[in-house]
Amino acid sequence: MKGYHTINNSKKNIPQPTIHRLSICHRCLELFAETEKGRKLKTISSSEISEITGINSNQIRKDLAYFGKFGRRGIGYPVKDLVYSLKSILGSSRKWDIILVGAGNIGKALIRYRGFQKRGFTIKGIFDNNQSKIGKKIGNIEISDIKIIESFIRRRNIKIGIIAVPANAAQGVANHMIAGGIKSILNFAPITLKYPHYVKINTIDISVELERLVYFLASELKAND
Ligand code: NAI
Repeated sequence: MKGYHTINNSKKNIPQPTIHRLSICHRCLELFAETEKGRKLKTISSSEISEITGINSNQIRKDLAYFGKFGRRGIGYPVKDLVYSLKSILGSSRKWDIILVGAGNIGKALIRYRGFQKRGFTIKGIFDNNQSKIGKKIGNIEISDIKIIESFIRRRNIKIGIIAVPANAAQGVANHMIAGGIKSILNFAPITLKYPHYVKINTIDISVELERLVYFLASELKAND
């Protein structure tokens, strides 16, 4: 964006937690920019961002510094420009087509979630191996046979896939995705998948997250005992 700063997206080895925090900043600032206060405010300081996001202000400055020079000392960050830059850094200014495997509870909930579209993600294909589901529709997308997944991915040059199948089927599904050309996978199955170095897989394991919460809760309770 002109007169503001240059985004350097070419840097490698950006820590995952940095991307995670910037994604939180993006989401929070986008919402904030739509509020009455956000519409009035031209610039925002890192401590104000900290208040909105719950992320330490020094950490925010460090995370942003990976991608160039942002804002001005003593003035802060122009709100709209910062939202635009974060979108660009995170790649969500682009439109991404995705596929999903597993038309079960999780799969259906994800397909019906409107937030994806808002962030530029469009589910283009749903796959399952259950013959009674194949051919049926969720929303306006027909469930296809897992057997055709590789050619589907290749033909449409899709790079992102979501796995929502039981753990014992997840590795096989990941292999099909990768063979078709998928480069990034969001995995909901509670299993550690094997994959080549050029692929990125993020696993969302809700029970692990709950355990993390319980761990802190248990330590707090112990301290109070
Ligand atoms: P589900 O049993 O409702 O759906 C799984 C779907 O995957 C079914 O439609 C099934 O036909 C399909 N499938 C099975 N093997 C397949 C294969 N080889 N190829 C293509 N499709 C195949 O399961 P649900 O509840 O949606 O869970 C999905 C995954 O998410 C599981 O790994 C589960 O452990 C995990 N998970 C589920 C949560 C929940 O609350 N239901 C919470 C967190 C994670």
